[in-house]
Amino acid sequence: MRYLGNKENLLEKIYQVMQLKKIQGNSFFDFFAGTTSVSKFFKKLNYQIYSSDLMYFSYVLQRAYISNNQELNFEKLLKKLNFQSTSLFASPIHIVVEYLNQIEPVEGFISQNYTPFGTSELEIPRMYYSDENGKIIDAIRQKIELWKIEDLINENEYFVLLACLIETVPFYANISGVYAAFQKIWDPRAVKKMILRPVEFVVNNKENFTYYKNSTELLNEVEADIFYLDPPYNQRQYAPNYHLLETIAKYDNPKIKGVAGLRDYQNQKSKFCNATTAIQELNDIAKKGKFKSLILSYNTEGIMQQEDIISTLEKYGEVELVEFEYLRFKSNSNGQSNTKKFIHEQLYILKKYA
Ligand SMILES: C[S@@+](CC[C@H](N)C(=O)[O-])C[C@H]1O[C@@H](n2cnc3c(N)ncnc32)[C@H](O)[C@@H]1O
Repeated sequence: MRYLGNKENLLEKIYQVMQLKKIQGNSFFDFFAGTTSVSKFFKKLNYQIYSSDLMYFSYVLQRAYISNNQELNFEKLLKKLNFQSTSLFASPIHIVVEYLNQIEPVEGFISQNYTPFGTSELEIPRMYYSDENGKIIDAIRQKIELWKIEDLINENEYFVLLACLIETVPFYANISGVYAAFQKIWDPRAVKKMILRPVEFVVNNKENFTYYKNSTELLNEVEADIFYLDPPYNQRQYAPNYHLLETIAKYDNPKIKGVAGLRDYQNQKSKFCNATTAIQELNDIAKKGKFKSLILSYNTEGIMQQEDIISTLEKYGEVELVEFEYLRFKSNSNGQSNTKKFIHEQLYILKKYA
């Protein structure tokens, strides 16, 4: 998924550095899970995973990829649907997704608030999704909820289907990168009819744990050999920039406001978006965290200063800094334009004193 700070393209590099620096262990805490790309990678390497994020849509992805640990068969639902797939060899999830791709679009919170159809009375009608795709999103979201209420799917199946929706909707959003603003002209991607995509199952032989929490609240609870920290690195909060993914995941009819139709995010503000509180949080994590090694992903454009990070971490163990160049996608503060730019990615490594 396209997401600010997604580490998907850096995973091999991070792992190489870990091997070089002899960071070993069996358990891994992905403290700022986001898209779960890091958790997935280390789950596939058979680490026991703990992951957490302030955003509920991230929790949906965590439940689907990290705590679910089997290929699901949607037995009860498929028996009830009695739906014939067009493909002879379709797996259960492919059959369910195919079914969802042919249900009737309906009106609902997304089409009523984020498409021109539903917002024509506003001074600037919202153009996040085409009229058709807004109704398709509503239909699929409502159907998944209904199946859960009718007990036709279990919890894992519920979160896996929600994850299919969360992974699919960004491909059809009329935005440039983030949801803080919509584009005023339709992007060709956004006017194509949405087709739901199945997600992959990631299986290892460990029990893995996922949380929808401010991760610093887990410092007493979670113990892992490796803590991996990939916090926000500037003032921009994630919640307003991904508000629509949050609303599709929660589907809770929130009060919304402004041109962009933002939901309230008072409880989802990160202290890592302010230089002073970020250093205080980092200090707390390094001090109280139950880990052997801590890896902090950061970069030279971040609001915490290199000397402050090092002097904070040094209080608790041996610190090393590894830097490499990386081509990063950047979008401006209102999400209207984006550019690509080389910046220095940094990995701060703390090996805690025993
Ligand atoms: C740079 S992104 C992480 C990207 C992730 N590594 C990936 O590859 O997708 C930072 C994430 O931290 C989350 N976040 C910020 N402060 C947090 C906190 N105190 N506790 C939990 N999550 C937090 C944000 O919601 C966001 O998803």
